[in-house]
Amino acid sequence: MNQPQADFAIIGGSGLNELATLEQSSFCELTTPWGSPSGAMMLGIWQGKSVVFLARHGRPHHIPPHAINYRANLFALKQMGVRQIVAVNVVGGIHVSMRQPGQFVIPDQIIDYTYGRSNSFCDIEGETVRHIDFSFPYNESLRQRLLDAVKKLKLHCHPSGVYGCTQGPRLETAAEITRMQRDGCDIVGMTAMPEACLARELDIAYASLCLVVNPAAGLTQNIISLAEIEHHMQQGMGTIKEILSTFLSDAVYARARE
Ligand code: HPA
Repeated sequence: MNQPQADFAIIGGSGLNELATLEQSSFCELTTPWGSPSGAMMLGIWQGKSVVFLARHGRPHHIPPHAINYRANLFALKQMGVRQIVAVNVVGGIHVSMRQPGQFVIPDQIIDYTYGRSNSFCDIEGETVRHIDFSFPYNESLRQRLLDAVKKLKLHCHPSGVYGCTQGPRLETAAEITRMQRDGCDIVGMTAMPEACLARELDIAYASLCLVVNPAAGLTQNIISLAEIEHHMQQGMGTIKEILSTFLSDAVYARARE
């Protein structure tokens, strides 16, 4: 059977679990040797490009970060021929300049604090293990093209940052954030890993567009309010879609830089 194909994938996180902007869209259900993805993927055209949208937490949002089948998600996108993935993540801000909700960050580094997540396709005993290089976990060309889109829209965005990925689903303690600060983390979220390293194992270019929705735990006098997170998520997603749209409209010229 012919698999539907797409060049680009957008993986939406909390606050982005559908993409009404996709034209001629249809849903596509795939199974993989690693199980089922988070849900049906939406395939369509956006800015003349073939795009598949996958809601990481399912539609409606029901799969917590630690229970996502990241391997099935990434493998399904590979089966669809995807060559470039833009992941959307909401995060808490740690660095003093990144604490204000509503800011955008395109991270260039990751520190992985997760545990117990299936983080490789190489887990079959006896098969050759592939030790991928992961010095620079995000694809630099894709990151630059996202930054170009942000600049074109005259938006402010942090062009780099260290994403600390925690296990969740609970938020962090104040002491954990202090430790992450010492480690050099600028933002904190729960979903960058193992998504980023699985994409690398499959040779798919991967970059992330992060929206800060709260100052991380213990960095203000207040405890973290989910209502506040929700509010900033809703506020920021319109702009995220504008950035994605601009990125896709220019993507054809940038392919040679992949
Ligand atoms: N911590 C972890 N993940 C998050 C946060 C946070 O403060 N905010 C949004 N996602």
